[in-house]
Amino acid sequence: MAETTTAPTPQAAPAPDERSPVRSILVIWAVLTVALELFAVFVPARLMGVAASKTMADIKESVTVFTVVAAPVVSVVWAIAIHSLLRWRHRGSGPPPQDGPPLRGNLPVQITWVTVSSVLCLFLFIWGLVAMQTTSAQATGNALVVDVTGQQWLWTFSYPGEGGVTSDVLYLPVNRPVLFEVTSEDVVHSFWVVQMGVKVDANPGEITTASVTPDRMGSYVVRCAELCGLYHAYMVSQVQVVSNTAFQSWLHANAGSRS
Ligand code: CUA
Repeated sequence: MAETTTAPTPQAAPAPDERSPVRSILVIWAVLTVALELFAVFVPARLMGVAASKTMADIKESVTVFTVVAAPVVSVVWAIAIHSLLRWRHRGSGPPPQDGPPLRGNLPVQITWVTVSSVLCLFLFIWGLVAMQTTSAQATGNALVVDVTGQQWLWTFSYPGEGGVTSDVLYLPVNRPVLFEVTSEDVVHSFWVVQMGVKVDANPGEITTASVTPDRMGSYVVRCAELCGLYHAYMVSQVQVVSNTAFQSWLHANAGSRS
């Protein structure tokens, strides 16, 4: 080649397409971050429905915090992608006549990025440890014990401390700790009380436990969360959280009908 084009030195007045991309990426990043933060605060927790226990409220809080923290990070990736698509696109037919400008390091950007992501990771690590500590605490004291048995494809609930009352709908008194003792008669199922944030495997020949304190009256869903055969998707039951008086009369009514 008789004529060679040399990349401009940083001091030279740059051509429009070779100007430092940092400012433009920062602008796109700021816009995306604001939009995603609004999404993070309002959308994910709402999609998870109401919380019927403190465990579920804590889980929703963690989901919101993690999304809020992730929003600026994903915005960096999207901002660079959008900038590249808009500014570094080759127009016209055929391959570009020459290679794009080489990517060089940018020390301030690198230092900022490493520092920010380290702080974010450390924060999420500590948050996760604290959340695990509080949600895995087991119920003590006057906990209501409920034996949960999964089988293809239904759930059975029995109350060993209450004369062995058995039901295919889970009745729970509000604001009293519950200890679930979960097992299976055939294959592995997973006992999932969606709005209480309780999910524990039901294994044949084993008893697994989970505990929760329902703090909101109402009717919620109990699901199987482990593929367990043809009708896994229909292995759905109901949990009724009622007042303590209503719970006691339900127990008496059922004990009477069984004897
Ligand atoms: Cu039981 Cu899926």
